[in-house]
Amino acid sequence: MPVQLLDDKVALTHHSGASSEVYFFGATVTSWKVGGQERLFLSKKAILDGTKGIRGGIPIVFPQFATAKDPNAATAALPQHGTARISRWEWLGTSTDNESEISVRFGLTDSQIPEKLKKAWQKKFKLIFIVTLTMDTLNTSLHVKNEDSDAFDFNVLFHTYFAVPDISKVSIHGLSGLTYIDKVANNPSISDSQDVITIDQEVDRIYPKAPNTGILIDFGGKEKFALTKTNLHDTVVWNPWIAKAEGMSDFGNEEYKKMICVEAGTVATYINLKQGETWEGGQALKII
Ligand code: BG6
Repeated sequence: MPVQLLDDKVALTHHSGASSEVYFFGATVTSWKVGGQERLFLSKKAILDGTKGIRGGIPIVFPQFATAKDPNAATAALPQHGTARISRWEWLGTSTDNESEISVRFGLTDSQIPEKLKKAWQKKFKLIFIVTLTMDTLNTSLHVKNEDSDAFDFNVLFHTYFAVPDISKVSIHGLSGLTYIDKVANNPSISDSQDVITIDQEVDRIYPKAPNTGILIDFGGKEKFALTKTNLHDTVVWNPWIAKAEGMSDFGNEEYKKMICVEAGTVATYINLKQGETWEGGQALKII
């Protein structure tokens, strides 16, 4: 069965053998297998019962990245990374199921989010999340419709946790020469002079206006991940390293060695969406 509906998630299987799983909670993609190998990191301590955002896979950050810096922002009362990743989404069905791809859709409106979160950001919206699986790609895209009586601002991000065998062998290509906001060093802007990014300490960076194509994650094997984004301005790179890992209840102490987050989104600025309008954006992950 190419699309299998289970109690808490949907399982997709492409005829090539590639597969994926998406939880209704957060519409979080938690698995993507190509060539029998898991390509997304999911913590062994991830909480999957809907009481906490899922630690791993591809959580959807909306409508606020981190917490709002400006206490007067409309999103100021929202928890870190917003409401979409901690709400149960509706199953909207399969839209494509043919030789080349399987595509499924999930929906979330303001009336479906928990009451407390609704109070924290009282905007009317409709989200549609589309996951498309082919033999070697996983595409995720989001439509945001403003159903409010006024314009609103939002951030959006696909918080992808890539699975890697050994963080010391990982290099990220395609961001050199850019200026980034260093969240570890309290947000100064730094010019990246490294040819490639390697990880040997905590890394938490926002690359504003990062290129849409050419981002490669080399994990020291025969294959690489290629990340392409559409209508998303920024790229975030995150690895918690040792001390932060130890401080997270849903992340193993040693798991920082097995993951790297390279995240496509618009987080350095807000997207302003007028009443009645729809914004669309997405990312494509490919094994090359
Ligand atoms: C990243 C942020 O996107 O998400 C980090 O840049 C943050 O600052 C990380 O620590 C994880 O966030 P959370 O809320 O899932 O623990």
